Amino acid sequence: MDAKTSVAKRLGDARKVTLWLMEQVPEEFWNQRVHDFYSPIGWHFGHIGRTEEHWACTRATGRAPLSEDLDFLYTDCPENPKDARVRVPNKAETRAYLDSTRAAALEALTRTEFENTDLLVRDGYAWEFALQHECQHQETICEMMALIHMAGAKPEQARIATADGPKLEWVAFPGGRVTLGSSDPFVYDNEREPHEVEVDPFEIMRRAVTVSQWRAFIGERGYERLDLWSDAGWEWKQSEQAARPFGWTPDLHHHIGPKGVRAMDGDEPVTGVSWFEADAFARWAGARLPTEAEWEAACGPERYPWGDDEPTSDHANFGIQNWGPKPPPKLGSSRIGVEGLAGGCWEWTASAFLPFPGFVAYPYDGYSRAHMDGRHRVCKGGSWATAGPLLRKSFRNWYVPGYRQGFLGVRLAR
Ligand code: AVJ
Ligand code: FE
Repeated sequence: MDAKTSVAKRLGDARKVTLWLMEQVPEEFWNQRVHDFYSPIGWHFGHIGRTEEHWACTRATGRAPLSEDLDFLYTDCPENPKDARVRVPNKAETRAYLDSTRAAALEALTRTEFENTDLLVRDGYAWEFALQHECQHQETICEMMALIHMAGAKPEQARIATADGPKLEWVAFPGGRVTLGSSDPFVYDNEREPHEVEVDPFEIMRRAVTVSQWRAFIGERGYERLDLWSDAGWEWKQSEQAARPFGWTPDLHHHIGPKGVRAMDGDEPVTGVSWFEADAFARWAGARLPTEAEWEAACGPERYPWGDDEPTSDHANFGIQNWGPKPPPKLGSSRIGVEGLAGGCWEWTASAFLPFPGFVAYPYDGYSRAHMDGRHRVCKGGSWATAGPLLRKSFRNWYVPGYRQGFLGVRLAR
């Protein structure tokens, strides 16, 4: 298959998921915003189309947008603040916009020479960028669905957690050189340039922290013990009134997610924790968060923890196949025997989101560089809602330490 056919096919695969997801969003959710900080769910679908048209048509081939109004509405920029995005086109109109921008992007693809010296066009970067961006917003849409369910949830009686003990299992890494970043032409700017770092021997949890381990932390009053929290973390906790992971019901046995209330399995990875909560949990367990380099060491040298084979549901819980976390599938272990690194939950690291040596912001400053302020922390591995094209081990996600609205969990090191 030539490069153009391949990217067109992958775009088609991603779009099937997006259109399926559109069907999963209840009509009454379409225009809802749970907070000024968020756009309505419906906006994210249009933004997928606009981003594709902008990079693959407007920027790569110089063709004006099909609709200037929609181009503006669906741009994420200060001139178009989130609290102004109150009403967005309905599902049918949005579907038509996605279809027309996709047709334009594919038409631009046929007119483009991949050998071009323009970086945006060379190797089809603009189309690949559109594809991976679409996948990222699929996950954001799942987050928005969960937030809307939570806003509508009825209050319940709290139950005191029983401490079932942390019982953490560890895998040793003997120390050695690890490559961070990637030379693949289709990675994001923040994954470049690949470079080696030395990692000292350490141990890392065989699995991400589970729901039952987190219940034990709550049972031992982890959210009330000042000594377990950093100063900034305690302040965050007080202002958020955080007493359990985001989305957990007070009985500590149910989770409100994108499909509503769900009974949790004690062995599934915990999600809905901020970096501050992860840090406090680590102190309670007598351990710490892994650095980004340690996380990659646990993963191994190949594209995925298990090697270079493309992910399937036997390797990882990813791609919105399960609508929530679950214990990691068997074939997903890394060489040294660490499980569930890809999919399940994003894993917080101790590392700040900073540029690698040789980093050049691309295709725009706002994608990565604007967030490389030393406040954001790197998250690795992808969640149950992360699409296959983003599951590579070099992928770097980032959030501020107080963010807990994503499918975020943690795996400790020591
Ligand atoms: C990396 C997930 C924080 O959702 O704001 C999407 C990804 N950037 N469109 C975000 C992103 C532009 C970004 N995160
Ligand atoms: Fe975006």
